Formats: sequence, structure tokens, C-alpha cells
Amino acid sequence: MKTETTIHGLAASLHPARSARKLIGFVPTMGNLHEGHLNLVREAKNLCDIVVVSIFVNPTQFGPNEDFDNYPRTLEQDSHLLADVGCDIIFAPTVEQLYPKPQVKTKVLVSGVTDMLCGHSRPGHFDGVALIVTKLLNIVQPSYAFFGQKDFQQVVVVKQLVHDLNMPLEIIAVPTTRSADGLALSSRNGYLTAEQRQIAPTIYQSLLAAETQLHDGIALADVLETLKHTLCHAGFEIDYVSAYTPDLEHLTQFDQDVVLFVAAKLGETRLIDNLKVKFIAT
Ligand code: PAF
Repeated sequence: MKTETTIHGLAASLHPARSARKLIGFVPTMGNLHEGHLNLVREAKNLCDIVVVSIFVNPTQFGPNEDFDNYPRTLEQDSHLLADVGCDIIFAPTVEQLYPKPQVKTKVLVSGVTDMLCGHSRPGHFDGVALIVTKLLNIVQPSYAFFGQKDFQQVVVVKQLVHDLNMPLEIIAVPTTRSADGLALSSRNGYLTAEQRQIAPTIYQSLLAAETQLHDGIALADVLETLKHTLCHAGFEIDYVSAYTPDLEHLTQFDQDVVLFVAAKLGETRLIDNLKVKFIAT
């Protein structure tokens, strides 16, 4: 496994694979890797000849009061984990490599699917994600790029921009990896105190309960209300509890597949999760 820190270095390392028309798989990350990231790499290994993993804490997707400065940077530990799952190349550029001075003047704005959920709660977040993902895809030029479904809205945004900009690759969405108690793996789980960690799985447990209620015929609005109550009662401060179609279209009734979305804070730590509930026609 090689580690490249410059765009030129990465291009040189990928040259033989590109010339031999090998399939390049790409897993973009912000590091501080956990089993969820490693599962993305495993999927990439299954489908591709060469796997590139980027580790870059992207400043443009963090809001002014968010955790950019404190975001864990654990390159050495990440490198060991990536070597173990067969990653071929780590791309770990500096901020100056990707955002050279005087300044990047281009914006990548994906409209519609960024209006709600995290797009609403974290203004500018998806503009930063769309810009960095576009840059990374142009630099790596993979055939496939892998994203986790925990960030459901991010996957929709990235698929939209890849489609709209005619980028020649396929986006693969990989199911969320969870701990045994159901908590979706996230680098931010590391911020939780022991007590908060005990409470955190309530999100997924209440999403599963909501799924059962929907299948039992309880109205979507009532199910969302119950979900909010359960989370408040457990000690969460709710950012949003909402339902959309898998394409992030508005919906008011459970008359098609629905995705339930939760973003909620335990202390200072903001957790997100989602569950797709299949509509079963009777
Ligand atoms: O999901 C993430 O870790 C980030 O949003 C991504 C896709 C690596 C872009 O910085």
C-alpha cells in the first residue's frame, strides 16, 4: 500500500493501473476510520482491481460553529486499518493541495435535494461536500465510488451531481454498518460519554419501532410524533425527525417506500440515522 499526499503523486501511482485499463474503485473519507469505512473498502475490493481511499477533513463542509478543528485526525491508525483490508493507495492531501491560495472560485451547487434535512440544518454543508467530491472524483477518476447509506442525503446529492455533470462513473451506496446494539457507526460516536453511548442506540431502536407501526397501519404523522417523543424522553435534543421518498420528494402518507430520517443531539454530539421502510401493498 502506498500513501500519496499530492495530486501529481497520486496520478503517477495510478498511471500503470489506468494504462492497463484496470477498474479503479474510490472510497472518499475524512479519516478516523471505523468498520463502516472498512466495509466500503471491502465492497470496493470486491468490485475493482485497485482501491484508492482518500483521507481529507474537508474544511468547506463544516459550518463556523462545527467540529472542524477538533475532528479526529488519526492517519497512522487509519493506515494500519486500510493495509489490513487491502487498500492499494491512500490519498491524504493537505488543505493547500485541494484548496490552493488565493482561493477556489468555483462552486458546485446541487439544488432541490439539498433544501431539507441536513441541508436545512447545516447551511452550506452540501455545497462543501459537492465541491470536494467533484474535485476528488476528477483527481482519482474512478470507475466506481463508494458511499455509506448512513449519510443517505449525501448519497442522493452525489448521485445527482454525477448524473448532472455527466461524470463517467457509478456511485455505489453501501448499507449502514451498526454496532451490535444498533447504533450506526460514525466517527462522531467517539465524542459520546459512556452514559450517552448507552442512550444512543435508541435512535435505531425507535426507527425500527416506527417501521413496525407503519406496517401496522398507523398514520405517518402519528408515527413521526411518537418517534420524536421517544427520542426527547430518552434525552435527545431533536434537530429533525422527517420522512421523504428515497428520492427526497415530499410525502405525507405511507403509500410508497418511505425513508425515515433522524438527526438529534446528545449533549454536543449530533447523530444522524435513517431507515428505509418498504411499502407493502395489501
Ligand atoms: O462522508 C464523508 O466522510 C464526507 O462527507 C466526504 C464524502 C468524504 C466528503 O468530504
